[in-house]
Amino acid sequence: MGATQLFVLSLISLTLLSAVSYSEGNGLKMNAIDRCWRSNPYWRRNRQQLGVCSVGFVGKMTNNIGRNLIRYQVTDPSDDPINPRPGTLRYGATMIKSKVWITFQKGMHILLHKPLLISSYTAIDGRGASVHISGNACLVVSKATNIIIHGLIIHHCKAQGAGQVMGPNSKLVSLGHVDGDAIRLVSASKVWIDHNTLYRCEDGLLDVTRGSTDITISNNWFRDQDKVILLGHEDGYVRDKNMRVTVIYNHFGPNCNQRMPRIRHGYAHVANNLYQGWTQYAIGGSMNPSVKSEANLFIASKLKQIVWSTGKVEAAKWKFHSVGDVFENGASFEQIGVGRGGVKPNYSAQQRFPVADAKWVRSLTSSSGALRCSSKSRC
Ligand SMILES: *[C@@H]1O[C@H](CO)[C@@H](O)[C@H](O)[C@H]1NC(C)=O
Repeated sequence: MGATQLFVLSLISLTLLSAVSYSEGNGLKMNAIDRCWRSNPYWRRNRQQLGVCSVGFVGKMTNNIGRNLIRYQVTDPSDDPINPRPGTLRYGATMIKSKVWITFQKGMHILLHKPLLISSYTAIDGRGASVHISGNACLVVSKATNIIIHGLIIHHCKAQGAGQVMGPNSKLVSLGHVDGDAIRLVSASKVWIDHNTLYRCEDGLLDVTRGSTDITISNNWFRDQDKVILLGHEDGYVRDKNMRVTVIYNHFGPNCNQRMPRIRHGYAHVANNLYQGWTQYAIGGSMNPSVKSEANLFIASKLKQIVWSTGKVEAAKWKFHSVGDVFENGASFEQIGVGRGGVKPNYSAQQRFPVADAKWVRSLTSSSGALRCSSKSRC
């Protein structure tokens, strides 16, 4: 065995050892995603490690890391939607043709003048800086794939009228009216939205629309919002039957009203989330969707019923299942279409993760949202 092999082997065993002692020493304080990178004190030197930490329908983000990766640092918070300047976020997200990993030199507030389109093979990594984004119709992923959105604070996003904006591969794009959402996915696939703080936008916080699929929404903090997450935007859009979304380790609330999520047609695995009250409903749907709600903690405020359904509810086609959820303060989950077996996500080995007992949900979601990482140490 060569020295390099030995070195690699000892690295692997060190990593295994620390992973084991870490989780044992702290109980289940870190969830399956965070445990993969947050116990590494050298995460800054090894930012791409994050790419193998994703789970759920997005799978692993291995196409965002490795050879030919361009590292790009945002140094300039200004925004020019047509001629983005080098150093700005929009330049990094649209003008770089190869795969890119975007970080931020310092804390900043980016006020977008137009929606920010994100190219395929882009990771936006806000770790280590406090990055606020707000303005006109914030982040949009349209017909793009292999995207990581991590560690951003996105809020006060407003609707935007039609107009031109720089798009992927340095091509100007004409956009129609865009609603005021924090993040909007349109015909997008393989998108991982992790550890963001999202609040107070004009329309919703996160829309997954027009045949988007293979999405994981994890570790985010959604608060102070009427419409939170929309999966499938239109009853007539049947392509959304193929939509697969994983919603895990998120904190909803306080002051969230509805749609955590609201789903049409497709399938959502909603697990280990903390629901801190809702005023209309927590999980809802129409057009025969399937939801596996697993080991979440639902804490009711005034309204107790978690589930809302609308349109024609064909119990033979709907599946709204609750497995291992914990209900506090009188919360109740009215299942639909039970008795014909569960709705398994059928994850591949790369997508699979252990769903924790709901008694751990408070600690597993305790660091949801954009993390505060001190200058050198752990996140
Ligand atoms: C999992 O497989 C079963 C059996 O083939 C199928 O009915 C179900 O729709 C699949 N679930 C998902 C999320 O694709």
